[in-house]
Amino acid sequence: MHIGVPLETHTGETRVAATPETIKKLIGQGHKVTVESGAGINASVIDSAYEAVGATIGSAREALGAELILKVVAPNDSELALINSGAVLIGMLNPFSNETIAKLAGHGITAFSLEAAPRTSRAQSLDVLSSQANIAGYKAVLLAAHYYPRFMPMLMTAAGTVKAARVLILGAGVAGLQAIATAKRLGAVIEASDVRPAVKEQIESLGAKFVDVPYETDEERECAVGVGGYARPMPTSWMQRQALAVHERAKLADIVITTALIPGRKAPVLLSAETVAQMKPGSVVIDLAAAQGGNCPLTVADHVVVEHGVTLVGHTNLAAMVAADASALYARNLLDFLKLVFTPEGQFQINLEDDIVAACLMCRDGQVVRKNG
Ligand code: NAI
Repeated sequence: MHIGVPLETHTGETRVAATPETIKKLIGQGHKVTVESGAGINASVIDSAYEAVGATIGSAREALGAELILKVVAPNDSELALINSGAVLIGMLNPFSNETIAKLAGHGITAFSLEAAPRTSRAQSLDVLSSQANIAGYKAVLLAAHYYPRFMPMLMTAAGTVKAARVLILGAGVAGLQAIATAKRLGAVIEASDVRPAVKEQIESLGAKFVDVPYETDEERECAVGVGGYARPMPTSWMQRQALAVHERAKLADIVITTALIPGRKAPVLLSAETVAQMKPGSVVIDLAAAQGGNCPLTVADHVVVEHGVTLVGHTNLAAMVAADASALYARNLLDFLKLVFTPEGQFQINLEDDIVAACLMCRDGQVVRKNG
């Protein structure tokens, strides 16, 4: 099959959907690959590295005109215009956006969105949410360290002792757990909270303290367990008690990293404007939910703002700030997904009996067919 890898043109997008490592494997399987000139440059992959493994360097028209296109994010209108009807598109296409999926269907594309893969053991190697959230959690701590006007670790120097930074992490999924691990390596003192009771042990095993907000009703307990490993919106009663706990912990914190998301919905507000107003001057908030409305109402997506002496960082694509590794991991996720849609002889096929393929399929033959979302 002819596979195309275009340059991502979305603002701030530095990642690329294939690396020389993954392209070498695809070519080894008998495919022909065209990479748009400069597609990997922001992720530290130069054209000649692609050529060295047998890829052809071409134009956007040539890469997007392939039979199968590997992308990072959904194509914009001008990219879409270069994609042939009947082509197959694989990427992080935002499965919850009806508009995007309808547009792809309208163009006659068969599209797979990898964010829709189930969170099962078999799907782990192609789990793009995990591979990219892991990087975002790491980068969140480094950004916090950058904006925080003090040291992270406790230091005893001849000029006196410096206290360790207190870090509060709200939401302990993949990003939150990596943020705990990274902050721990930098010597911070960490507390973390999540709605899902299962994470208490994980938080503690990474050396952080769990901020417990006990459940008081069966409804609260049931919501907290979530669906498919994901959180569900919690009842107002629990959210109010959590807000009080967060308020108290945030006042003492130097850095707050929020990562709480509910798939397909606006992010829950966990850090109120009133709480930020009472945080210490020089404190830093990194809001990883900025793209979904933010866990703090004072966050401005894609901007760094200072309110009440607190720096709020609203970058929406932290994985793109670690472009080389984010691309390497994402490209491997795609390669693993491709194994599910190619027969051993290299024929493209859609096997709807496969739960991962079925969940990721968004549209086919002009029809929206997605299972969830
Ligand atoms: P996510 O990015 O959807 O959400 C981040 C975190 O925010 C979650 O831990 C969620 O429980 C939490 N959250 C939501 N509302 C909150 C609130 N009001 N207060 C505090 N925290 C709140 O989550 P992510 O990282 O994608 O993980 C989702 C689930 O998938 C987890 O259970 C994770 O362990 C599981 N998982 C399973 C994998 C597999 O088996 N293949 C791979 C990766 C994750």
